[in-house]
Amino acid sequence: MRENHNTQASTKAVILVGGPSRGTRFRPLSLDVPKPLFEVAGHPIIHHCLKAVAKVPDVREVILVGYYDESVFRDFIKDASKEFPQLRILYLREYTALGTAGGLYHFRDAILKGKPERLLVLNADVCCSFPLGEMMRLFEEKDAEAVILGTRVSNDTATNFGCIVSDSHTKRVLHYVEKPESHISNLINCGVYLFATECIFPAIRSAIKRRTTRPRLLSYPSSDNLESSFVATGDDEDAEKSEVLRLEQDILSDLADSNRFFVHETKDFWRQIKSAGSAVPANALYLQKAFQAESPELTAPSATIVPPVYIHPTASIDPTAKLGPNVSIGPRVVVGAGARVKDSIVLEDSEIRHDACVMHSIIGWSSRVGAWARVEGTPIPVGSHSTSIVKQGIKVQSITILGKECGVGDEVRVQNCVCLPYKELKRDVSNEVIM
Ligand code: GTP
Repeated sequence: MRENHNTQASTKAVILVGGPSRGTRFRPLSLDVPKPLFEVAGHPIIHHCLKAVAKVPDVREVILVGYYDESVFRDFIKDASKEFPQLRILYLREYTALGTAGGLYHFRDAILKGKPERLLVLNADVCCSFPLGEMMRLFEEKDAEAVILGTRVSNDTATNFGCIVSDSHTKRVLHYVEKPESHISNLINCGVYLFATECIFPAIRSAIKRRTTRPRLLSYPSSDNLESSFVATGDDEDAEKSEVLRLEQDILSDLADSNRFFVHETKDFWRQIKSAGSAVPANALYLQKAFQAESPELTAPSATIVPPVYIHPTASIDPTAKLGPNVSIGPRVVVGAGARVKDSIVLEDSEIRHDACVMHSIIGWSSRVGAWARVEGTPIPVGSHSTSIVKQGIKVQSITILGKECGVGDEVRVQNCVCLPYKELKRDVSNEVIM
């Protein structure tokens, strides 16, 4: 049993941000901005994670771990450090994709500096209310080695996620299986963890060692990861070198063998941000949360503003345009008279001309939607974790997305389309990827 030190700053946080080879499902938006910096509800996706971490009293340091270029997060870190002065925020770059556990292990010395007792790990690509305080309480109450955040999904979608079998009374994790072939549980991994530092690094090290002795039993990383990293020689030194490891496949199921791995089940919202279209439900959920919290960032409701709506102060909205619910309008956007925008994200410098209608869509940077044009997707059913639908026998994106600098002609209708950057749409289109 660990001693219950009441030390300051005994928890560190890591946000796993991935790298340029990740986020391919976020195209075409990730062609112009790294996914973690894409703005939903007026802030970059990772800002929402950071804001939650900043509320945990004993966290003083947050490390973004990824394999993007060093320059990518520089401005974000500068701004965030001003907003959260109590936090030291830094970015550590993996030389290549090391996997969700490999990156942690590679930077273990930096993470363990200052001897933190606990490590919060957040996947950057999740949207939720991050009940980190509740996870901390469960961790202390159970004297846990690890706590995972879980949520219930429908039985038919559960196998798309990491599944947790738990004892509902004690909250102990009994089994963990990443994307099982058949149904084992509808309680799934939310990608948010709290680990005892004295436990997680030895667990990763054991997995690395095991890889050399039982190479066939280990999961392979995705093709965009290191191809050569699983050359098993039985030699410990080689095992150390091959660091591609994933928490989900290689570590969590072993933690379940210990008696000190627990799950905190959230009843609040949770979504993954994988496809570009999934930014729309994430935007809606964060806006609704901000509205409940009476955030001053949101625009006050009126005859033409159906809350929640976020409008950047530099945007220009005609007073006869009607916006909302669930709308974010970026910097310098112009919305003309009589336009209607609903359940959408309108990115900076774009223009929606008079009497145009934009629904269930993302309008890319510097794009133009012509007068009387209609850009629309299909509403995603409440609680659904998918952003694709089947239309006329074809799987299409339910959210319409215009990439950067696209143009939609006057009176043109665009329905359930994904449009790559720099395209001009002069005729009606539906259910297409426009390349
Ligand atoms: P699937 O969910 O299995 O389809 O894969 P994914 O690549 O979409 O997500 P994954 O669960 O592998 O990643 C979870 C989080 O970890 C995301 O925020 C990723 O950006 C991040 N991530 C994934 N691989 C790496 C890696 O090699 N290094 C770092 N630092 N982060 C990673």
